[in-house]
Amino acid sequence: MSKFKLTFILAALIVLGSCKENPPAPTGLVTDQAMVVSAREEASKIGSDIMQRGGNAFDAMIGTQLALAVAYPRAGNISGGGFMVYRKANGEIGSLDFREKAPKSAHKDMYLDSLGNVIPDMSTLGATSVGVPGSVAGIIEVHKKFGKLPLKDIFEPVISMAENGVVVTTKQAELLDNYREVFIKVNSDSTKFASVYKEGELIKYPQLAKTLRTIAEQGRDGFYKGEIAQKLANFIQANGGFVTEEDLANYEVVWRQPITFKYRDLNIISMGPPSSGGVTMNQIFKMIEPHDISSFGHNSEKAIQLFTEASRRSYADRNYYLGDPDFVEIPLDVLLKDNYIKERMSDFSFEKATKSTDVAHGEVLVLESMETTHYSIIDTEGNAVSVTTTLNGNFGSKLYCDELGFFLNNEMDDFSAKAGIPNMFGLVGAEANSIEAEKRMLSSMTPTIVERNGKLWMVVGTPGGSTIITAVAQTILNGYEFNMSMQNAVNAPRFHHQWLPDMVIFEPNGFSATLKEDLIEKGYIINEERTPIIGKVDAILVLPNGKLEGGADKRGDDAAVGF
Ligand code: DON
Repeated sequence: MSKFKLTFILAALIVLGSCKENPPAPTGLVTDQAMVVSAREEASKIGSDIMQRGGNAFDAMIGTQLALAVAYPRAGNISGGGFMVYRKANGEIGSLDFREKAPKSAHKDMYLDSLGNVIPDMSTLGATSVGVPGSVAGIIEVHKKFGKLPLKDIFEPVISMAENGVVVTTKQAELLDNYREVFIKVNSDSTKFASVYKEGELIKYPQLAKTLRTIAEQGRDGFYKGEIAQKLANFIQANGGFVTEEDLANYEVVWRQPITFKYRDLNIISMGPPSSGGVTMNQIFKMIEPHDISSFGHNSEKAIQLFTEASRRSYADRNYYLGDPDFVEIPLDVLLKDNYIKERMSDFSFEKATKSTDVAHGEVLVLESMETTHYSIIDTEGNAVSVTTTLNGNFGSKLYCDELGFFLNNEMDDFSAKAGIPNMFGLVGAEANSIEAEKRMLSSMTPTIVERNGKLWMVVGTPGGSTIITAVAQTILNGYEFNMSMQNAVNAPRFHHQWLPDMVIFEPNGFSATLKEDLIEKGYIINEERTPIIGKVDAILVLPNGKLEGGADKRGDDAAVGF
């Protein structure tokens, strides 16, 4: 190598190296003190206003969760579940599991016919797919432990919004139109969502407002016991479902240790089981770490190969080993050990794709959709909250309780109804995620907080079913390794691999023809038809001057609001 070439390479390395120290100019909303980024501007605003009135990030979490249940009913909910990861201003971290649970009468073969085949739609559509909701218990627990403002003050703006109505966006009008027939099929033609709602129109939710008022007055018991619980259980059972009043009364949230791991000078804090998010992301990052991915270039062939091969191996482990830690032994000490992770990547080569059949077995289909929702919050004191919450499918089970004013989840489909048979995200489960009474179904939700050099740096998460983990990991890499602003890191085109099916899914139009041809040449199967978008990331970055930059995903109606 000539001296000139060597000097050039050294200079280039220095520039690349220093890139990470020279943060990019922000391109998203920048605020001085506090911010909420969520799937609807109305919800971000309610959360932000709560903090302006002296509430903290936890109060804002409650307001935002409830506001999304009104303004974003496809995923926002009081009748689903979710996970919250937090980091207080003093550095204390933790996580809350308010995931749904299987009803007490649930059992391993509940979705199989007499021949042992999965009964179509039973775990996805209507009352039979409903898990015991966790969201109300979640917010009440958050309030009990960390809340500053009275519960009623947090609920009030949400109740007013439900009473006064929420404007239908273009995207929402289209979505409601697409689902109208199935709403009628599952409910009847007299259900609220049998009506046509046009863009710009207001939808009012008086029944939901009434339900919220009861919860504001009575707390947890207002939902899990008494009149609402009785009506809800009766409604679910009248429609053929399994959730009883006893199931509701017995529901409990769990405070859990988050998964934390180092990646260079980052400390990544994410959700542990029953979510697979933290564990799988930990494996992916540790498989990438020995390589200088930033020198490969963003979405370059080598970067895509490395990330894909790390994902392939990590998802194979996910699907086999992970489930509800209260029911199954998960060998986390092995799965997250450096030697084990190194060994998993020992057959990786930039020359050619590994075959998923050589990593493990199975054949599956993928179906993608965007029905979960994530919000990120930082308050004036520097407390950070990262929450992903879901009904599972779009509008959950599609079963709408007109009397109480909300959709019910279809979270039971996140269990593995039969070993080796994929669920609606194409994920193949194993024994660890089989159905048992009162067990929690495995999730991919990955609410995450990242510290850089010991300080709060990023709050991030997304919907996207099985693609959640890869979308969150790519957003962190975009900010850290490829030096993008928060908004650019969120907007950048994404790709996904989940071991099975053995294909790299690309967002259409985000990747060059040459790049794709080169990957095909190496044995990668590429698919651009599966899903128009991968994830809808909502994130916040703490800038070096202490200000906050929002990254609200351009793929949805998402918005950052703050002050
Ligand atoms: O918990 C899970 O992994 C799924 N219920 C998430 C569903 C989801 O992200 C759907 N939206 N895209």
